Amino acid sequence: MNLVKQVLISVSTRGFATSQMHLRPKPDPRQAELMARSLPKRLPLKGVRDIVVVSSGKGGVGKTTTAVNLAVTLSTMGKNVGILDGDIFGPSVPLMMNVTEVPLLDERNLMIPPVNFGVKCLSMGLLVETGPVVWRGPLVMSAIQRLLKGALWGPLDILVVDTPPGTGDVHLSLSQHVPISGVLLVSSPQRVALEVTAKGAEMYKTLKVPLIGLVENMSHVICDKCDNRIELAQNSTKDFAKQLGVEVLESIPIEKEVMQCGDSGTPLCLKYPESQFAKAYRNIGQKVIDFLENKRTTVT
Ligand SMILES: Nc1ncnc2c1ncn2[C@@H]1O[C@H](COP(=O)(O)OP(=O)(O)OP(=O)(O)O)[C@@H](O)[C@H]1O
Ligand SMILES: [Mg+2]
Repeated sequence: MNLVKQVLISVSTRGFATSQMHLRPKPDPRQAELMARSLPKRLPLKGVRDIVVVSSGKGGVGKTTTAVNLAVTLSTMGKNVGILDGDIFGPSVPLMMNVTEVPLLDERNLMIPPVNFGVKCLSMGLLVETGPVVWRGPLVMSAIQRLLKGALWGPLDILVVDTPPGTGDVHLSLSQHVPISGVLLVSSPQRVALEVTAKGAEMYKTLKVPLIGLVENMSHVICDKCDNRIELAQNSTKDFAKQLGVEVLESIPIEKEVMQCGDSGTPLCLKYPESQFAKAYRNIGQKVIDFLENKRTTVT
């Protein structure tokens, strides 16, 4: 019998009462202080006022589309903005922001984020030449730290961070190392997406990171011919948002231009500034700004 099987059997036959006897007592205050000291400290990024994370537990719901359009919209609203692509395995920011330059290094070995559309951009996709990134968790965590702390981000009003799906290493690393001002949730309206997004949101709540609100993406279709609005789900997003204690900031339709603009590297908000989409993003941008300002007022 192999060792793993032996261990599993011995654990399961020992019973709950015995295993309870092995539970450690709560650490005393001195131990707790020592343990806290060994945890990473949330240190602000030099020259960066606020960090806004765009997140969803679910993949493919439009996180990067949201992050990119939010970043360029905030920039047109007069803010100094950067976008950090936290998706190490599937970076999409270089394509959607049309950035291909390898970042230069300054004399202190800090990366200088390339700028496009007035937004500073950094992504693993600019650092790894070709092929997939095949890394374990600790390397992913150190890559995130390098992108965050090994770059000349400042002066910035807002750093928007695009994240991969799930609640894994990237989210943990971000929440542990820098103070996140707020998380913007993105979900499509299907239950299968909302339920996973809710899990992601609960993780941030547990880590005491505030939620800004939810962007419902791909919620409906506007008919080309009659302008009718066709809902794609049973409008359960509002109930989900309510349960999470957040507001649905906007409901964004499925539109072919969103996809085309993403693929061609010109954010829709810039290409069609008079569109309903751009208008919706100006509203989201304003709500993000209001949230950050309220937070500052409440803290001070
Ligand atoms: N409202 C929309 N209408 C039409 N296409 C959209 C819309 N939102 C996003 N898309 C398209 O859907 C695809 C997935 O979007 P995106 O890459 O932003 O999702 P994601 O959540 O970042 O995915 P991943 O989890 O892989 O990082 C892209 O091709 C994008 O252009
Ligand atoms: Mg993405």
